[in-house]
Amino acid sequence: MNGIVSIDGVVVPAGEARVSVFDRGFLHGDSVYEVVRTYDLALFEMGAHLARLASSADRIALRLPWTADRFAREVRRVVDASQEVDSPDPAAAPWNLGERLVRIVVTRGSGELGLDPGLAVEPKVVLIAVPLRGPPLAAYREGISAWPFGGQDAPRRGGDPAAKTGEHLFHVLAVREARTHGAQEALLLDRAGNVTEGTSSNVFAVSGGALETPPLGAGILAGVTRAVVLDIAGRLGVPVREGSLPLARLESADEAFLTSTVREVLPVVRVGERPIGPAVPGPVTCRIHAAFREAAGGGHNPGKAPASV
Ligand code: PDD
Repeated sequence: MNGIVSIDGVVVPAGEARVSVFDRGFLHGDSVYEVVRTYDLALFEMGAHLARLASSADRIALRLPWTADRFAREVRRVVDASQEVDSPDPAAAPWNLGERLVRIVVTRGSGELGLDPGLAVEPKVVLIAVPLRGPPLAAYREGISAWPFGGQDAPRRGGDPAAKTGEHLFHVLAVREARTHGAQEALLLDRAGNVTEGTSSNVFAVSGGALETPPLGAGILAGVTRAVVLDIAGRLGVPVREGSLPLARLESADEAFLTSTVREVLPVVRVGERPIGPAVPGPVTCRIHAAFREAAGGGHNPGKAPASV
């Protein structure tokens, strides 16, 4: 196991990290989490991630045991402690080399067996810092395939999509289905057949030079990267329409891309069996990604500077 872990503020090598089998995160997915990353080892958009952690915790009535400042300090501490450098991967996107990913997990804690949240004694905070492994460079150059999952006949997605919780079985099965078809991400459809989001990403279509993406009310997570991309689109003068995105509309778009902390802006060139446009990363996608790279990794941003700790 590669990485450094902090459990309730005690830092240990990943291979020595242990939590109780009575922990409700393990038993019930009764937890909230965030995934943050570094650029030049500085944490990116930490304020937005910690605000979302607090909102997720609120939505499931889980009391966060630390202040946002304490979370920021402890995350910094595990990043500093994770000195191991991953063996260089020739396929990696070069801007990810040497960077770290930190998963922040807060569970409701351990207690007697049973669903009643009142059985939990103390929330538990686990921070896992590992070398960041993003999509390979080829995925940015050639684009990826995504597979639609859900819709009318699928099992119902559980939980509150606006809360980032440890309850993930629907997403696990969606990814399994996508992988079976050789696709890298699954696109979740609502009952009406509208694309909502990916299993761990937000979705954008590009039609006639404008971005189209489902609104926050469509049952999606408020992606931190999504917000940065909307900000960038505003600065570049690229029009944005936030509205429902029927699968057929995505399939007939000129371009499509996913956004997430680890993927940044990742071109999608195939949805299900269908090519999107000419099945190569499109000019608007590439322009947005270039602006994102400049804002995040390029060291300066002429507009709103991304918050980093
Ligand atoms: N996933 N939608 C869902 C369901 C997600 O789980 C995520 C993030 C996103 C994108 O959010 P952001 O831009 O803030 O990363 C959208 C994280 C990265 C994960 O589970 O690994």
